[in-house]
Amino acid sequence: MSFDLVFFGGTGDLTWRKLMPALFQAFRHGKLPEGGRILAVARDDMPDERYREWLKERFREVDGSKRPTDEEFEKFGALLHYRRMDLSQPEHYLKLKSWLEERNADTVVLYLATSPHLFTQICEQLGAAGLNTPKVRVVLEKPLGHDLASAQEINKVVRSVFSESQAFRIDHYLGKPSVQNLMALRFGNALFEPLWRRESIANIQITLAESLGVGTRGPFYDQTGALRDMIQNHALQLLTMIAMEPPSTADADAIRDEKLKVLRSLKPFTAESVSRDVVRGQYRAGSVDGKAVVGYMDEGKIPEESQTETFVALRTEVQNWRWAGVPFYLRTGKRLAARDAQIVVNFREVPHPIFPGANQPNRLIIKLQPEDGLELQLLASKGSANSEALTPVSLDLDFDKAFASNRVGAYERLLLDAIAGRLNLFVRSDEQEQAWRWVEPILDAWKEDGVGPRHYNAGSWGPAAASALVARDGFSWAEEA
Ligand code: BG6
Repeated sequence: MSFDLVFFGGTGDLTWRKLMPALFQAFRHGKLPEGGRILAVARDDMPDERYREWLKERFREVDGSKRPTDEEFEKFGALLHYRRMDLSQPEHYLKLKSWLEERNADTVVLYLATSPHLFTQICEQLGAAGLNTPKVRVVLEKPLGHDLASAQEINKVVRSVFSESQAFRIDHYLGKPSVQNLMALRFGNALFEPLWRRESIANIQITLAESLGVGTRGPFYDQTGALRDMIQNHALQLLTMIAMEPPSTADADAIRDEKLKVLRSLKPFTAESVSRDVVRGQYRAGSVDGKAVVGYMDEGKIPEESQTETFVALRTEVQNWRWAGVPFYLRTGKRLAARDAQIVVNFREVPHPIFPGANQPNRLIIKLQPEDGLELQLLASKGSANSEALTPVSLDLDFDKAFASNRVGAYERLLLDAIAGRLNLFVRSDEQEQAWRWVEPILDAWKEDGVGPRHYNAGSWGPAAASALVARDGFSWAEEA
């Protein structure tokens, strides 16, 4: 199958930091279908050869194991092309069209790795140029909008030009192998299903913690904040996969229908419940991995008195028979104590303890990163002579060790899926809009509350109020247990 893959925003950060390295990995693993061309388009004028040199330079900043050797780059570089494009000029789209028609590949993937405010303009122009035939797919990188209205506006334009099956909305968390393993755990194994409900589960915690700060992304981040950047998309997508009913097939729409039902069942927020159940924070100076780091306000180009949150913890419920009353805690933040993304399923305590000492409930930890694995915490007897107290032990599964070779990174997987036309791991417009609908009352309440984010020290686990949120229900975050 021949394909042409076009990156709008071809010299942007996302393209060289994530997309090109992922494509190179696919190429190195022999996964990229034969007969592909990759075209980067951006504002600068340069011949293909210069773009290749520029990209080769950028690759030096990429993680060592993902960096091509000169010989590898030579071969990969042969697939790369570059064209200048002014995205407001209709004739530049016509030129792109004739470039694509020169070869008439089986599939054309147009990846919008630009600033999202250009999405509607680009889609309209693509439509006007006739670059929306059935073999064309458009990939939209997050953030898609900054609230419900803007997301609906983008989706309206996308839908007027492309069919839903041509629109690939990226949430790169869905491409992570650990997230696919979550589907495998739940729907490829019968073991946990009888327990996966309110009768057995006390609470579920989803933590997406980062130790990095906002770095050079300050101006973008300040307009965005943690709720829009991580909760509206990544954390909610994980929640849907944990809480969804088994789909009838593995088809994209069967899965996405079930995920949408979860989003629709989330308990809606009111101004009152936001002040009770949502904690927002902003980091101050502190120390991460033994190094002193500056606070958010000193990251550079952050407006004075910014109220942008770099941390969110919230409590919600999925209002249906399976989950009624089970708290789901979601938490994310920058400059936290560790880079650690995990889902913790806390089971209920034994109904009638007969052993002395603490009867720690069972816990299943789905580790997304830095490790990719599963840990099941149990209690066992050590077999000591004069104690019947039980000791916590773990069954630990490390997927990187179990499947040492051929593990595919998130962007690599998603790019290959977009080329192959597999939509399972992409977000449908109704899911995305429903996520905005749920998040919006939080944004509205924050505008009015006059309180602003609570401060936390860089290198901590966020404001103390986040611990209190969970403690109120008689629980604690996994690292505090
Ligand atoms: C992105 C956010 O979507 O996800 C970033 O915009 C965040 O702020 C990143 O750092 C985290 O992704 P990962 O894969 O490193 O956990």
